[in-house]
This record gives sequence, C-alpha cells and structure tokens, in this order.
Amino acid sequence: MKDRVLIADDDESILWVLRQMLKDKKIEAVEARDGKAAAAMLKAEDFSLAIMDIRMPEKDGLDVLKEIKDAGCRTPIIIMTAQGTMKNTVEAMKRGAFDYITKPFDIAELEILVDRALEHRKLKQEVSSLKTRLKEHTAREITFVGKSKPVQDVFKTVGRVAPKDVSVIIQGESGTGKELVAKLIHINSPRNEGPFIAVNSAAIPKELMESELFGYEKGAFTGAAETRQGKFELANNGTLFLDEIGDMPLDLQSKLLRAIQSQEFYRVGGKLPIKVDARIIAATHQDLEKAVEEKRFREDLLYRLNVVAIKLPPLRSRREDIPILAEYFLQRFQDEMGIEPRMLSSKALEALKAYSWPGNVRELENILRRVVLLSQSPVLSADDLALPQKRQHKESLEDIIANRLEGFINTIDVKGKHELYATILPFMERPLIGLVLKKTGGNQVKTAELLGINRNTLRKKIKELGINVEEFS
Ligand SMILES: Nc1ncnc2c1ncn2[C@@H]1O[C@H](COP(=O)(O)OP(=O)(O)OP(=O)(O)O)[C@@H](O)[C@H]1O
Ligand SMILES: [Mg+2]
Repeated sequence: MKDRVLIADDDESILWVLRQMLKDKKIEAVEARDGKAAAAMLKAEDFSLAIMDIRMPEKDGLDVLKEIKDAGCRTPIIIMTAQGTMKNTVEAMKRGAFDYITKPFDIAELEILVDRALEHRKLKQEVSSLKTRLKEHTAREITFVGKSKPVQDVFKTVGRVAPKDVSVIIQGESGTGKELVAKLIHINSPRNEGPFIAVNSAAIPKELMESELFGYEKGAFTGAAETRQGKFELANNGTLFLDEIGDMPLDLQSKLLRAIQSQEFYRVGGKLPIKVDARIIAATHQDLEKAVEEKRFREDLLYRLNVVAIKLPPLRSRREDIPILAEYFLQRFQDEMGIEPRMLSSKALEALKAYSWPGNVRELENILRRVVLLSQSPVLSADDLALPQKRQHKESLEDIIANRLEGFINTIDVKGKHELYATILPFMERPLIGLVLKKTGGNQVKTAELLGINRNTLRKKIKELGINVEEFS
C-alpha cells in the first residue's frame, strides 16, 4: 500500500517544505492547519506517519498526541519543536511520539527521520502479522480430537481451569495426549502470550535435573562456563509443564515445592533469589498416590500440584473416538504431504476399532502416518495398516470385561437404587463355571480344582446359578 503522511502546521512555509520533500519521495501528503483538524484526521484515517508542529491553533501538538494515543491510534508521530524547549520535547516523547526535530531543521535530517519512521511502522506491521499467523498455527497444532464422554469431560475441565492460575495434574498412559492437554490449557489461559516451557523428568539424567530446572551461575561446577537460565526462569509469565513429574528425584521435589510456594528460587551456585511467575502444569503416567505411599513422592508437593486433576483415559476405553481420530490424522498427513485423499476401507476401520492400542493416540498417529506414506492406493485396506497381530489379542481380560461393563454402567440412572453386585456377578460366574465345566467334560472335582474353590462351594454355585451340569458331560 502507498504511504500517506499527514503534515500539520499553521506555518505555510513549513507546510510547503514538507510537501516538497514528500513529493520527491513520491509519498502522498495530506495537510492539517490546526490541532483539532489533525487529531480528527488521525483518528479517522490510517496514516503511515504524521509530522506535527507542537504549537498549533485550536489544540497544541502535545494535546493532540495524548488524544490520539488514548484513542488507540498507532501512526508514528514526528513532533516539530522550537529550539530551547527541552521540556516540551521530553513531554512529547513521554506521550508516545516516535521522535522529534527542532526548528529550524535541515531537510536531510528530517528525511532520515521520515525513512526511519516508515521503516519502523512496516516492521511493526510485519511482526504483528507474523504473530497472528503464529497464533493461528499454534491453534491448529493443538486440536484435541474426541467426542467420547470422557474427552468431553476433559474439555469442560480445561475450559473451567484454563483462565484461572491454578496448578493442574494430568494423568494418563503414554500417548494419551497429556502434553496436548497441557498446551490446550496454556493457549486458553491469559498467559498465552507467554512461553510454554516443558521439562521432562524422565528424559533428563538425575544429576543434571536441578541445573536444567533452575539454571546455574558461571563457575557453579566444572563445565559451567557461563551463567544459564533454567526452565523455571524461562517460563516466567508463561506456563511450566513438568512432564513425568513422578520421576523427579526426591531432593529436587522439595526444592520445586519451595520454588512454587515462594515464587522464587536460586540458580545452582547462585546467591540471589530469582523471582518467577509461572503457572505449573504437571503430567505423569504413574499413580502418584501410590508413589506417596511408597515414599517416592512428597505428599505436600502432590497436594500443592493436585489442585485440579485431569485423567486421560486410554484409547481402548473410548473406542468411539477412534474413527474421528483416524479421519483427523489422515486429513492432516494428506495435507502435510500434499497427496491425493485417502480413505479407510470399512474392514480397515473395523480393525482400528478392534485393536488394543497399547501406545494410545500416539500409536494411532504413527500407524496412519506410515500407511499414508507407504500405500499407493486411495483406499487403505486392513492389510495396509499392518497392525501388530499379536497385540490385537493381548487386550487383557480385565480390559475386555471393563469395556463391556462400561456400556452397561453408563446406562444406569444414578438416582435409582440398584443391586449391582447381585446383578452383575452371576453374569461373570455363570460363564466362568460353565466354560471350565465344558473344558473338563463336566468333571466337578477337576472344575473345582481349576477354579481354586472347594467342591462344596462349586456345588452350591451350580445350584444357585442354575447351571445344567448334564449339558457338559
Ligand atoms: N485427542 C487427540 N487429538 C489429536 N491428537 C492427539 C490427541 N491425543 C494425542 N494426540 C497426538 O498424539 C501424540 C501423543 O500425544 P502427547 O504427546 O500429548 O501424549 P502424552 O500423554 O504426553 O504421551 P507420553 O506419555 O508418551 O509423553 C501427539 O502427537 C499428539 O498430538
Ligand atoms: Mg508427553
């Protein structure tokens, strides 16, 4: 876009000089002859720059400056002042002028200022457009896909806690999206302009953990050639993501707790406390309560971090999310690789839904990336997926039963009264006893042995459950 510059002065000769200079630079000049007009124009239109005298009729330059800055005008302003009015100059800069020039001025000097102001404005615009693009980019990068009840609940919690500054603990198996949720909270928090800094306690050798987290002073230990900031310090005004917090060494847990509580800490070898304002989000795949019982994790730290707990269920217990996740990853990889659309055959989708996903969403992501990359055909078959065969059956008995039970439990009205134990246990016992009887050809002695219960108990159960033993002999 072509530059337009506002020149404001009541002195015709100055206006003439400015007009000539801008004309030579092929810049459009717009004129104002008093302060009131200048203010109105600056508020109404978008100028690349304004060159304004400080002494003007109706309103002086300083008042104009204040008025337009208050109104959010971002046009850089060069103020022209008379010699020997230092106070005015200082005041003008304080009110947000870009720069000033004293009359009478050398035209070459003014030209340099004008070039600098225009350049400055251009850079500022570039930075702001980069910032918006970066924001859009990060927003896309942290899409959390899922429509199952547990995922919807996670969204609700994220929405509730993101605006507050409270600590959050995210628990879930590997690959369930813990880091993604942490970023989601950060992006939706008032700190989203600040950094998101991650420290992974499982990935860093224990001896280096403290300097990684808190930084070190030059000469603190051999090899500390210069002072380095730690992750805690880098997270200032942003979010500190403590990944695999369960793996943090005990002595460091105390230091961490102190740092969180007092919002200050010492670098390794440091004498002066460093102030820091960071929101803490922690994640772990471990059961921290158990770790506390086993004295591997400090109870007070858990208590401090555990203001809000988010549990991410494994993928195998929210299978309705598999098709949309698969669709999402397919789309993403196609876009990234710039290839023709691919779709999953219905058999392939079935296979994905049936698989146990020990590596959760990360595994699904990896498998789909590989297929999109390797397969040539537009329709991806179950064979193309090459799911680990053995694992497909490795789903534990507990998982299978839990999955079945979950559907049933979900239908229960919590307000009503239910005899869940009495209702559900026979469903488990009947097939269990029946199947073992079948295996032993109806031999009750052998069946009791295999089940590990005594014969009388078995006989009682058979009667209670109405099992017809004849059927099996
Ligand atoms: N619901 C989801 N929607 C989209 N992508 C997801 C989802 N869940 C996880 N992912 C993706 O799966 C991968 C693993 O997620 P993430 O790193 O957040 O998991 P994690 O729980 O931190 O795993 P780990 O314990 O292995 O570090 C990432 O690439 C992430 O983008
Ligand atoms: Mg992680």
